Amino acid sequence: MANKNTKAYVCRECGYMTSKWIGKCPSCSTWDSFDVKELQQEPQKAASSAAGKAVRLSEVTTDSSIRFKTGMSELDRVLGGGLVEGSLVLIGGDPGIGKSTLMLQISKYLCEGNKKVLYVSGEESMSQIKLRAERLRIATDNIFLYAETDMDSVIGRTLDERPDFLIVDSIQTMNKKEISSVSGSIAQVREATASFMALAKKEGIPVLVVGHVTKEGAIAGPKILEHMVDTVLYFEGNDDHSFRILRAVKNRFGPTNEIAIFEMGQNGLTEIYNPSELFVSKQSFDVPGSVVVASMNGTMPVLVEVQALVSSNAYEGRPKCVVGGMDYNKISLLCAVLQNRLGMDILSKDIFLNIAGGLRISEPAIDLAAALAVYSSARNIVMPKGTCVFGEVGLAGEIRGVSFAEKRISEAAKTGFRRIIIPRDNMDAAKDFEDDLEICAARNLREAAEWLVERAR
Ligand code: TYD
Ligand code: MG
Repeated sequence: MANKNTKAYVCRECGYMTSKWIGKCPSCSTWDSFDVKELQQEPQKAASSAAGKAVRLSEVTTDSSIRFKTGMSELDRVLGGGLVEGSLVLIGGDPGIGKSTLMLQISKYLCEGNKKVLYVSGEESMSQIKLRAERLRIATDNIFLYAETDMDSVIGRTLDERPDFLIVDSIQTMNKKEISSVSGSIAQVREATASFMALAKKEGIPVLVVGHVTKEGAIAGPKILEHMVDTVLYFEGNDDHSFRILRAVKNRFGPTNEIAIFEMGQNGLTEIYNPSELFVSKQSFDVPGSVVVASMNGTMPVLVEVQALVSSNAYEGRPKCVVGGMDYNKISLLCAVLQNRLGMDILSKDIFLNIAGGLRISEPAIDLAAALAVYSSARNIVMPKGTCVFGEVGLAGEIRGVSFAEKRISEAAKTGFRRIIIPRDNMDAAKDFEDDLEICAARNLREAAEWLVERAR
């Protein structure tokens, strides 16, 4: 059968393909972005000549045991036990959060195990990287720098150098000649990632790829690549804090939502092994509106302080509600519950709520802490010393049980807390802690609030 040539129109920006020319791309909404492309149609292969063969599940061997330690135990835990051979890990985050710093520090540890690292930089010059390395006190002969943005050169250099690990900083700077759109466009970023994925799988080299998240909906950022790569780690944090949170949002080789906490200092990032102690040690005691929550991040319990400030609406305009580190809508809902179920005058007030340390918590177990923080600020009541809480709050003001209750209670006891408010549904999990902690197993917000008022006297 003769090969048949057909035409297709391909969007320069995002790679969308169509058989007819159109003015505006339906995928990325760019105007006049279609180029014509000749397609070589492969003759259909007979079914019997299909490549590869089906294998019995029992005969498949797992190679997940081939993991490399990065030298940072917290990072290894987030990765699910180290870097897996031939995997592609994407590290996303805002510019300036510390991605390049982390990459260089990992390189240092990997090289100490006599491994060779190829560090491809499309953003910084070799001297800039050298300066950072000096700051991080890295002196190893096994890190090879390569300042290049051309994809073919990067792949070629990797095959020549045969490193044990490849680091690409960043994916937005990589450029494939055949694609006419600029570096950082969806088509370029996608193509570059696919090439690195193929390289990782074929050569068995773990590849770490840095990607910037843009504030405006992450166009061409790591979001569109999440489904292509094995593991996605996001670096979170804000400018006001030196803490950086590394979160696994996708992991083919380990649990997701696992976090590691780092502190950015003079000499780079340091791991924080007991975040609860750190966050709680900075708690603003004796102030109304401060409540400690026993939250779970992946499989790790972390105690953090939730702070609320309720003040009368100074300008008599629409009341303000400013929320940091938590879902805004959840706070509106909790305030409505406080207003309607506990008869408080909350909705006419300005409400400010924040999670100390720059941590973001999206699990429902934070509800009770947020509600009690608002309650305590509005009523000007200080939480009794050494109290910690967790639980989900429903629309009727009921407190619902949450998962990992035992882990949360144990973390509170271990960190030196003496009292804890938990959902009544989770009472079974508290049995072993009755000697260490005074436990309030509340059914609803009213019970929790009454307990609080009684202890605060
Ligand atoms: P960087 O790793 O360049 O961020 P990214 O690659 O994510 O854009 O780090 C940026 C910030 O970190 C920069 O403002 C300087 C600061 N920093 C330190 O505070 N201490 C250090 O040891 C290093 C290397 C950087
Ligand atoms: Mg950087």
